[in-house]
Amino acid sequence: MQHSFFDVWNVEEANSAIISTKQKKSKKVNNVQNSGIKPVKQEKAIEQDALFHDLQENTSKIIPPKKQLLKWIGNKQRFASEIIAYFPRNFNTYFEPFLGSGAVWGKLSPQKPFLSDTFAPLMEIWQTLQANPELLKQWYAERYEIMSQGEKVVGYEKIKAAYNAKPNGADLLFLCRSCYGGVVRFRQSDGYMSTPCGIHKPMPPINFAARVDQWKVLTGTTTFGNLDYTKAMDMAREGDLIYCDPPYSFSQSILYGAQSFSLSDLFTMIKRCKERGVFVALSIDGTKKSGNLLCDITIPDGLFEQEILVNCGRSMLKRFQMNGQTMEQEVVADRLLLTF
Ligand SMILES: C[S@@+](CC[C@H](N)C(=O)[O-])C[C@H]1O[C@@H](n2cnc3c(N)ncnc32)[C@H](O)[C@@H]1O
Repeated sequence: MQHSFFDVWNVEEANSAIISTKQKKSKKVNNVQNSGIKPVKQEKAIEQDALFHDLQENTSKIIPPKKQLLKWIGNKQRFASEIIAYFPRNFNTYFEPFLGSGAVWGKLSPQKPFLSDTFAPLMEIWQTLQANPELLKQWYAERYEIMSQGEKVVGYEKIKAAYNAKPNGADLLFLCRSCYGGVVRFRQSDGYMSTPCGIHKPMPPINFAARVDQWKVLTGTTTFGNLDYTKAMDMAREGDLIYCDPPYSFSQSILYGAQSFSLSDLFTMIKRCKERGVFVALSIDGTKKSGNLLCDITIPDGLFEQEILVNCGRSMLKRFQMNGQTMEQEVVADRLLLTF
């Protein structure tokens, strides 16, 4: 059966409709009001953020890059400061097992990070940034040239076809920067990258090269791994810090080819880490639909000690679905759950 890009959205709509019905029926909604975890006021984050880099003992003191290297759905660029403000002052190795575009890592710039993601072409980009940043610049410039030569959409589709024939970091790098809304999506049936060409003009290679240089500085003592989060979290020891930003259980189940992701399995991993004395911070989808409907996620009792609502503004997914129109009432807040 042929699937179009917009079929994917329809599948997602259908899924979220089912979830909404379940939410209405469910009496046991775990949310900020009744999860039993004390929410923390946002002022605390701002206050902590001002002091963070002076007090944090495990940051490399490298000035964090201001702009993203990659466009990645669900990236935490705008909220990274607020998130890291709640991290412990002292920790050993920093783990980020759902790396994506690495916004929180970039802001924190820790001394000894272990960064990983299950998506191989994505990790190829990060590993190339570390080993051969000039090659990364070249990958981008070559594809920018293809797109600039003739009809923009034709060039884009050529690169997309090359990616789909053989998924690889070089094509993904350019596609994530040039696709519609920066939302790299994969068809549910066969993992085909289906996002159409963006309406914007991708940044010129010279600007991209400057971002490569800024991000490269961060990779000095970094270890990158292409592995499942369970394997990465197993490696963490007492005193280490893990920041988890998994695919959103409600809105991102078909992104990143991660259909099989289960939040309850992640909770089991977090419990094991906590028992070993590892600090774990978890971002999960907080509110949807006008900010009134809180996602019905059953959080195991006693697993988290604190919960913070991080305001993420309007939902990018929703904006995209509305064909570029913004929806003023669509306010999204992430929940940050801490085991410490
Ligand atoms: C919400 S994104 C992370 C966004 C990231 N915080 C950022 O700022 O860009 C979730 C990431 O989890 C990855 N992922 C999905 N399933 C995974 C798994 N089982 N193990 C490791 N990574 C996984 C996806 O490839 C995706 O990059």
